[in-house]
Amino acid sequence: MVEDLVIAIDGPAASGKGTLGRRLAAYYGLHHLDTGLTYRAVAKALLDAGDPLDDEKSAERAAHGLDFTQFDRAALSQHVVGEAASKVAVMRPVRQALLEKQREFARRPPGAVLDGRDIGTVVCPDADVKLYVTAGAAVRAERRWREIVEGGGAAEYDDILADVERRDARDMSRADSPLKPADDAHLLDTSEMDIETAFQAAIRLVDKALAGRNT
Ligand code: C5P
Repeated sequence: MVEDLVIAIDGPAASGKGTLGRRLAAYYGLHHLDTGLTYRAVAKALLDAGDPLDDEKSAERAAHGLDFTQFDRAALSQHVVGEAASKVAVMRPVRQALLEKQREFARRPPGAVLDGRDIGTVVCPDADVKLYVTAGAAVRAERRWREIVEGGGAAEYDDILADVERRDARDMSRADSPLKPADDAHLLDTSEMDIETAFQAAIRLVDKALAGRNT
């Protein structure tokens, strides 16, 4: 087992970073945290309570009370929750509360893979390996649309594309911890790559970093 390895993965919605994170964690025997779920859980708490999504006090309370071992992935993966998450994610007190818990998670032996928007830049700036996973907006919207339709849901591609673009703009332009690649991140463009190819490319980068650590 590898000791205290931290892999940071950032990228926009539907770039493939979640699947990549899960597979890398399994491969290297590390913990895995999809930090998007933490923002989604805060948003869901507000939606369930009927609180407005700009209620900072309620959002901060929900963030502090969050249990990172209990995420209802099915409920949190709903499209409306993702939209709401990107709204609560602009609030500084929410980010501050989640940041501490995310860092705590990353410190647990034998190490962790964290994926999100600000992992390489803010949460784990000293990560052993940083990946920035991206793909064109049209490709990502197509993936989302396919996921929804194959899961039995109904969706219009144009609506999904508009949502993806709106969410990108919100995540990249916010003042606190905007989505951007860390200076030392490796870029992985998955527009024309399947998940297996992306996974193999990521393994090569991690193995190289590990070899460097051991010399
Ligand atoms: O990745 P996912 O789509 O689940 O993330 C939902 C929202 O949570 C993102 O659009 C973003 O606004 C926010 N988020 C964030 N920082 C992270 C992870 C997610 O701001 N590290």
